[in-house]
Parts: sequence; C-alpha cells; structure tokens
Amino acid sequence: MTKTLFHILNGPNLNLLGQREPEIYGHHSLDAIEASCQKWAENHDIALLARQTNSEGTLVDYIQNAAEDASALIINPGAYTHTSIALHDALAACKIPKIELHLSNPHAREPFRHRSFASSVVDGIICGFGAHGYILALEAAFGLTHGQTSGQKS
Ligand code: DQA
Repeated sequence: MTKTLFHILNGPNLNLLGQREPEIYGHHSLDAIEASCQKWAENHDIALLARQTNSEGTLVDYIQNAAEDASALIINPGAYTHTSIALHDALAACKIPKIELHLSNPHAREPFRHRSFASSVVDGIICGFGAHGYILALEAAFGLTHGQTSGQKS
C-alpha cells in the first residue's frame, strides 16, 4: 500500500539554522530538524519529502509539486511570508491541508513580520515553539489527513 506523503518546505536562510541568530532560531541545524521529522514520519508510517530553497520561484514550484502528490504541506516560508504575493497565490491554488510554520513568534517581533501572505490560505499556523514546532506541525498534518482534526477551512 502506498504511504501517505507529506511535504515539508523551508524557505530562504533556513539552510543556516544553527548558525543564524541562534538566540532567535535555536541551535538545531536544518539537517537535525529534518532527521527528527523523518524519525517521526517512520513512527507514523508517513513518507516525507523535505526541501529547502532560497529562491522565491523555486518555493512556488515546490508548492505546486506538493499539490500534485502530497496529502499535506508544512511550510516555513521564511521572509517570503511577509513579502510574497506569489507565495500566497501558490498556496491558494494548492488544495491540500497546509500548515504555516515559524520557529520564532513573528507577532512578538518587528512590525514588518506581523503581516503574513500565507496565513489566510492555510489551515493553521504554528509559531514560537522553535524546532519542536516541526513535530507539532506534523502532528497537526496527521490530524488533518487522518480525520482527527478539522481545519478551520474544512
Ligand atoms: C521565520 C520568521 C521570519 O520572519 C523570518 O524571516 C525567517 C524565519 C521563523 O521560522 O521564525 O526567516 O519564518
């Protein structure tokens, strides 16, 4: 039987996790975070594709890929969260459960981080829990795809 597939997408500068402003984003590298996500996925019989890009167009391509073959999308769009109408439009067109994720709590930071072009077109948002947020997002995606959680938009 084919396993349920989740995609996890990370946007710009998240390849620098662990080195980048650790007082804000923590000490875990993206590799370490993805490894713990893969472990969670194995334990829940989920297949996982984790990808990162610094490019806005590639992030849009990856969202379109998720719409083609994933059952749920978890996305940390990094700074494109606050700037990208292309991100908004790609998410709006992607008709699978979607979770917006941030390590930090953008609402407790600079005003330019308070606006998100993603939030209105996702099922839910997880922010402020550091690397553990990725596991919380996986739990939420599992709930949405296995009927244990009803997203606000369903
Ligand atoms: C971030 C928050 C964004 O404001 C920032 O530009 C990032 C990371 C987070 O995970 O906390 O690059 O998405």
